[in-house]
Amino acid sequence: MASEPRITSARPGGVASARTGGVASARTGGVASARTRAMPESVFAHMDAAKAAARADGRDVIDLSIGSSDLPPPPEALAALRDATADPTTYGYCLASGSRPLREAAVRWHRERFGDPPGGALDPDAHALQLIGSQEGLAHLLWAVADPGDAILLPDPAYPSYFGAVAVAGLEAIPLPLREAHGFLPDLDAVAPGDADRARALVLNYPNNPTAGVADEAFFDRAVAFCHRHGLLLIHDFPYVDTVDGEACAPSVLARPGALEVAIELYSASKSFHMGGFRIGWALGHPGAIAALARVKSAVDFNAYLGIQRAAVAALARPRSAARRDALVFAARRAALVAALAEVGWALTAPPAGMYLWARIPASAGALAADSLAFCDALVRDTGVALAPGRGFGPHGEGHVRFALVRDAEALRDAARRVGAFLTKPG
Ligand SMILES: Cc1ncc(COP(=O)(O)O)c(C=O)c1O
Repeated sequence: MASEPRITSARPGGVASARTGGVASARTGGVASARTRAMPESVFAHMDAAKAAARADGRDVIDLSIGSSDLPPPPEALAALRDATADPTTYGYCLASGSRPLREAAVRWHRERFGDPPGGALDPDAHALQLIGSQEGLAHLLWAVADPGDAILLPDPAYPSYFGAVAVAGLEAIPLPLREAHGFLPDLDAVAPGDADRARALVLNYPNNPTAGVADEAFFDRAVAFCHRHGLLLIHDFPYVDTVDGEACAPSVLARPGALEVAIELYSASKSFHMGGFRIGWALGHPGAIAALARVKSAVDFNAYLGIQRAAVAALARPRSAARRDALVFAARRAALVAALAEVGWALTAPPAGMYLWARIPASAGALAADSLAFCDALVRDTGVALAPGRGFGPHGEGHVRFALVRDAEALRDAARRVGAFLTKPG
């Protein structure tokens, strides 16, 4: 029998964790808390050290390990930020009312792309919130909607920060394997009903990091129905909305029937506008989740600098053709890298979206094929090519690496040649 949905549109009632209404903190030895100690090691920090060692050794490093876009931010965004720095009214704390222009711009942008969600238009006050990036938003959202010991359905592989966020929130991750044979979509029918019923939320991310898998509307309809059936909040991390090939944009779960009653979607200027260092994003969707997250954030931050919010507002107003142009840059790089890797014997299929190429390490790597961290360490040490080890994306990531398409096609071809030489080197 279907369980009673736990997600309601109450503010913040239906989805708020006990923590949202009152905090208890515990130190459990040394200075680090148990939840801090439960955080996994960061593969990005590991690769940072490995890159520094390679540079110190005189290697010319081609860094494809981090998904930090190298394309320029929109000029109108930079102009808005410049103007804001000359405007003293931007210098103080930005309270919630100050972030309304960004929330309005985000709602307008969503309406222009996807139309109004079935059942009602998004309201900038009830359905939108400014974030300091979608990473910050997701971590605090888990605090806002789940209590220590609660379970979360989490894709595996997944963006590494999810695992840290789950640990810090004291949650149990129930892994949902993403398999290539299943289009890198979780098989929701394979989730044990007991697991689905005891979980608080389902986390999805399409276009996906690291696999570059894409979800279609039919999958989102199944995910929405699943969340209704099991009383789950559907958290769709959506920073790669603008990175699909072709004319259509990646689907927004909020545009699906019944989604606004169960789903919240997290957006980022980091990928859409190449503004990763600016730390700005926004959440849209379920009003109870938005209100709970706003409440947690009121204890944590005073919103991003108003000038950065104005930069995001300016970027959100740019025509869709600009996003298309950038997506084509990544598509061309992807094609160039796939072709260059094929030439050195590493055959891969180009995905239709995203900023990444997710690749099983070829058998020619010998023992390193089963140890992505050792493979990446040896590769950057010997060739200067830095990749992200699949292991950092979860147990199902082991045996893979992720290439970030954040250098031009020539650099990617150079990287592929060096990888080819590494794979054929004796020993
Ligand atoms: C799936 C996913 N979510 C969130 C982020 C971080 O986005 P932001 O810069 O908005 O915090 C990334 C960055 O690579 C990502 O891949």
